[in-house]
Amino acid sequence: MEVFRICGGTSLNGVVNISGSKNAALPQFAATLLSSEQSVLRNVPNLSDVRFMAEILSELGAEVRQLDNSTWEINPANITHNAPYELVRKMRASICLLGPLVGRLKKAEIPMPGGCVIGQRPIDLHIKALSRLGANIELKKGIVKVDGKNLRGNKLFLGGRHGSTVTGTSNAIMAAVLAPGLTTIDSSACEPEISDLCSMLISMGAKISGVGSHRLEIEGVNKLSGCNHRVIPDRIEAATYAIAAAITQGEVTLNGAKSEHLGSFINVMQESGVSMDLEHTDQIKVYLKNGELNSLEIITLPYPGFPTDLQAQSCALACKANGLSILTERVYPSRFMHVPELMRMGADIAMEGASSVVKGKSKLTGAPVMASDLRASAALILAGLAAEGESWVQRIYHLDRGYDAFEKKLQALGAIVERVPENKLPKSFSTN
Ligand code: EPU
Repeated sequence: MEVFRICGGTSLNGVVNISGSKNAALPQFAATLLSSEQSVLRNVPNLSDVRFMAEILSELGAEVRQLDNSTWEINPANITHNAPYELVRKMRASICLLGPLVGRLKKAEIPMPGGCVIGQRPIDLHIKALSRLGANIELKKGIVKVDGKNLRGNKLFLGGRHGSTVTGTSNAIMAAVLAPGLTTIDSSACEPEISDLCSMLISMGAKISGVGSHRLEIEGVNKLSGCNHRVIPDRIEAATYAIAAAITQGEVTLNGAKSEHLGSFINVMQESGVSMDLEHTDQIKVYLKNGELNSLEIITLPYPGFPTDLQAQSCALACKANGLSILTERVYPSRFMHVPELMRMGADIAMEGASSVVKGKSKLTGAPVMASDLRASAALILAGLAAEGESWVQRIYHLDRGYDAFEKKLQALGAIVERVPENKLPKSFSTN
């Protein structure tokens, strides 16, 4: 295993190219299965989750080729409906194969995803959607078995206790595009990744209206063709670099970022005194206006609310802000595994139910810390950049799932960070 060694205290400056979105690309790989024709996906981020997904498609019988760093060609002429447990168990997002397999083959067998460190993450809404579309579903020996031979359009409602479901909406859309008749999905998720999936499906011949809203209408078609689709930029990656600029008091231009996908994040940053210069299309310049960061007040919500996927990184930023910041989780109420690790670096954080209360202006000092999930890894690295001395972030395989070339991009901005083998981790950390 590898670890990140970070020497904090350097401000980040320059231009960073934003990669394609992980959470858009993963369901799009799955969506290529809806056609028997070849598809090409461009601007795909270079991530371990993407490689897992490519492997799963190959196991299902698709011919998958990586043409260059960010372009993949998928030929799913002959596929089966059984997703392999060994691969599926490594990545929760493989649940988004359910919709396409049921849509095209009218049957699917997918191992039920297990628990997850950021919360319970049930799939009841996915099941509800497919049942409403006429599928017969049973759970046997840990496998979700779907018989969709009677699939047909229907009215669906996808709101849950924590809002709408992103992959649940993807699954419902992907099953409905090939289900005869009209499907309406109320309380559908409207994240940019869902809109991008719809654009891809429309380019394949699907009939979808209401894209970008909480009500989608889908008129089933008999058949879809292949596509050549460019994945949207990763809004979470872009925002993470924006936080890196603010936390190190630097100036970073996010090249390729779309401000319209970042809505509430831009608002929170601006209210905290961070300048987000939106003058140029697809380019955002980020810097701290007066060198002072005001406290943050964040409540995570489905899009266009503040993304849960930025809560941990924002917590690191709050450690350097003036006064008390409050960060409340409404999507994954227990997604706070980064908090004790940030406290090891000197952060002053109290938990109140699903909120963290962060006392700002902490003197962060470098420490060995443990990443628990993808976004927590990013938060610890951001804190390490702002800390005095050396930090060692362990279990960075989480990071490789979702940040394309993170250390290389940080290095290009002037960060002192390197990836080293775990045996380089100092045996003891002296406090002298
Ligand atoms: N939920 C249910 N029942 C369901 C599905 C979801 O109760 O059937 C609940 C969840 O437990 C959660 C809320 O609804 O409380 C939202 O979950 P959602 O289904 O929207 O999450 P997801 O689709 O599994 C995607 C992203 C996550 C991101 C969430 C929320 C992908 C591959 N994953 O997950 O991304 O946090 O939406 O925006 O798109 C990440 O990138 O780090 C990540 C975890």
